[in-house]
Amino acid sequence: MLTIALSKGKLIDPTLELFRHAGYERAALVGESRKLVFPCPEIGMTFLIVRPSDVPTYVEYGGADAGVVGKDVLMEQDSDVYEPLDLLFGACRISVAALRAEVSRDRLSSKVRVATKYPRITERFFNQRGIPVEIIKLYGSIELAPVVGLADRIVDLVETGNTLKAHDLVEVDQIARSTARFIVNRASLKLKHDPLMELIRRLRQAVAAPSSAQSATNGVSAPAGRAKKAKARA
Ligand code: PRP
Repeated sequence: MLTIALSKGKLIDPTLELFRHAGYERAALVGESRKLVFPCPEIGMTFLIVRPSDVPTYVEYGGADAGVVGKDVLMEQDSDVYEPLDLLFGACRISVAALRAEVSRDRLSSKVRVATKYPRITERFFNQRGIPVEIIKLYGSIELAPVVGLADRIVDLVETGNTLKAHDLVEVDQIARSTARFIVNRASLKLKHDPLMELIRRLRQAVAAPSSAQSATNGVSAPAGRAKKAKARA
């Protein structure tokens, strides 16, 4: 039996769609229930539903054999896990943004105050450029920080750009691109080598030959859930 940690939220639907496309038809979760563990003995897997930022921890410490999580989370956490597969969906970028009116203001001589849920990525980025930075850690609604004067800049995910636009913010730097990744626990790869390699092989095949439903969530396009949300925001 393989235990797979899935990121709850926007990555869940395209993840399950990919598993089904890879031949794991029974990969399904009971939508409305409060359950966090979903055994699927027919396909030899148990799915765990966890916060995206907890997926690398579950996988690194063996609470799960493998997981699906965004590259943004992996970059922030530097976890000791294998990352054998780019699943291509959930595409977005990690960017620095500022209020349109503030972009041209020269703040490089003093400390830049940056609000973000990615303190490590932010620190690395500004340190590499030799720019003194004060990081304000937030857990969501990051775009609000410059609007109320809490920060000069933000570092956050940008997908459609609609949230930035709605707050009169513009991207000033792109730090990295992110997509969903399949990650594997190092010990599991030895102890459960055959089933894990088979799962990776099938997922790789499904990513390379997307179905029509899956292709809408691959690469540059937004997953269904996010597309809906973006539309609602626009
Ligand atoms: C993410 C991100 C941005 C937004 C970007 O937030 O933090 O706020 O999506 O998407 P867009 O470019 O398509 O507008 P999320 O919805 O995950 O919620 P959060 O703000 O609570 O983190």
